[in-house]
Amino acid sequence: MSKDKIQQLRDLKEKAKLGGGLNKIEEQHKKGKLTARERIDLLLDKNSFVETDMLVEHRSHDFGLEKQKYPGDGVVTGSGTIDGRLVFVFSQDFTVFGGSLSEAHAEKICKIMDAAMKVGAPVIGLNDSGGARIQEGVVSLGGYAEIFLRNTLASGVIPQISAIMGPCAGGAVYSPAITDFIFMVKDTSYMFVTGPNVVKTVTHEDVTYEELGGALTHATKSGVAHFACENEIDCLMKIRKLMSYIPSNNIDDPPFVEPKDDPYREIKDLNTVIPENPNKPYDMKEIIRLIVDDNEFFEIHELFAPNIIVGFARIGGYSVGIVANQPAVLAGVLDNDSSIKGARFVRFCDAFNIPLIVFEDVPGFLPGTDQEWRGIIKNGAKLLYAFCEATVPKITVITRKAYGGAYDVMNSKHIRGDYNFAWPSAEIAVMGPKGAVEIIFKKEIEKAQDKELALQIKEEEYREKFANPYIAAARGYLDDVIEPSKTREYLYKSLKILENKVDSNPKKKHGNIPL
Ligand code: HXC
Repeated sequence: MSKDKIQQLRDLKEKAKLGGGLNKIEEQHKKGKLTARERIDLLLDKNSFVETDMLVEHRSHDFGLEKQKYPGDGVVTGSGTIDGRLVFVFSQDFTVFGGSLSEAHAEKICKIMDAAMKVGAPVIGLNDSGGARIQEGVVSLGGYAEIFLRNTLASGVIPQISAIMGPCAGGAVYSPAITDFIFMVKDTSYMFVTGPNVVKTVTHEDVTYEELGGALTHATKSGVAHFACENEIDCLMKIRKLMSYIPSNNIDDPPFVEPKDDPYREIKDLNTVIPENPNKPYDMKEIIRLIVDDNEFFEIHELFAPNIIVGFARIGGYSVGIVANQPAVLAGVLDNDSSIKGARFVRFCDAFNIPLIVFEDVPGFLPGTDQEWRGIIKNGAKLLYAFCEATVPKITVITRKAYGGAYDVMNSKHIRGDYNFAWPSAEIAVMGPKGAVEIIFKKEIEKAQDKELALQIKEEEYREKFANPYIAAARGYLDDVIEPSKTREYLYKSLKILENKVDSNPKKKHGNIPL
């Protein structure tokens, strides 16, 4: 082979690596953004990236596009490893036609999605795009639809992770929305169906890009984003961390990490963590951190519906998904947002063989017209449905309140909880003492000379009888009442026992979760 041919190949690849050229790269950097390739380099293990379709070009002949061709066509695709484990990745290159999606660009993404499904490896999408390539018209829309279909078919088979690292607008938002986790970057990324200008025309609202669809908006208000990252490096490192807890596909187990932290470690502080006054809040995250390996809790959706906590951790090396009520926020009540947040997380864990651990302190569902009109019935049912259908190991620890329907919902024994424990501070009943006696002793209290005193006496009676874990334990609705300090040991032993758990649901095409 002549040297010229080798040189020609090298030149072509060098050109591809430059994307839209040095000026465009400089513009990208000036915006505080990395290039598509720099992002891949940070995300993947060193030298592990194997690129595909570097020489693909668009096929458009309209609007002068035939004179503007860039090898790779605005997206870098391929595979590599994270901590030695295979992942597929696409990274949109804003320096080429604003990262817009052409037919060829879409085909490249579909190709790696198909490959990921064949070998059972996660897909990570780094999105930075002006949306459909306007000059290509409907073929670009077709390209999006091909991606949406693959996102849907891959859902629950391989983990799909989206990072939004620039614009993501119009129908383009629906691919990330179907994936399992969305990471956004503060100040440089946004997602919306229609931008501020259209919003102004249609609803007369004045709103900035950031307010409408920035990282904090989606992490706090809409719940669309699971993470609002400080910068791109933080975002890419968080994706690597997330990967350490999840398996490569729905057949594999999540990665086990030999624990340095003694699984039988006693945690004396837990014996005094619950306040004497049952209405006093405490921070459930503290309890989680005390219990898990190396006190390391990887929280998901931290800023959205903080009255429920979800995230990953390890116990004795086992990766677990934690769902916990947070008494420090709204007394840990279940409302629309927290139910949806919890349900989505439970379903992810169940789809990917990650055992669920529930820490429960819940006074019930939040009453009121706002909640009812926004559908607390169907949204609360989502969480109930998710726990009911989950067949992974399911363990509950009731730390304090387990009242009403929320007792049933939060992975009770009746809906296939494998191990249900309670601390001696647990209160398990249909409702809290005050509300209960006001209903059942209404007439008696009304007749009493001193109504206040009568209410107090009845409340005390009720508390004595029901605000404890022993009636539930006597029925076998709890497997044991345990000393809080020994919780880590109980959880570890339960996880070990359940390591080979097999359970299933009736054969069906799919269930009909109340959406
Ligand atoms: C073709 C595009 C493009 C697009 C940007 N560019 N978006 N080319 N198709 N969709 C090009 C620009 O012409 C420009 O090219 C370069 O990318 C950088 O864009 P700028 O506008 O200079 O950058 P910036 O100021 O940062 O603004 C970024 C932007 C803006 C906010 C994304 O470009 C924009 O609003 N683009 C259009 C967004 C849009 O409406 N897309 C269609 C959405 S509908 P030059 O050559 O000048 O450097 C959709 C449907 C999907 O996507 C449906 C799926 C179901």
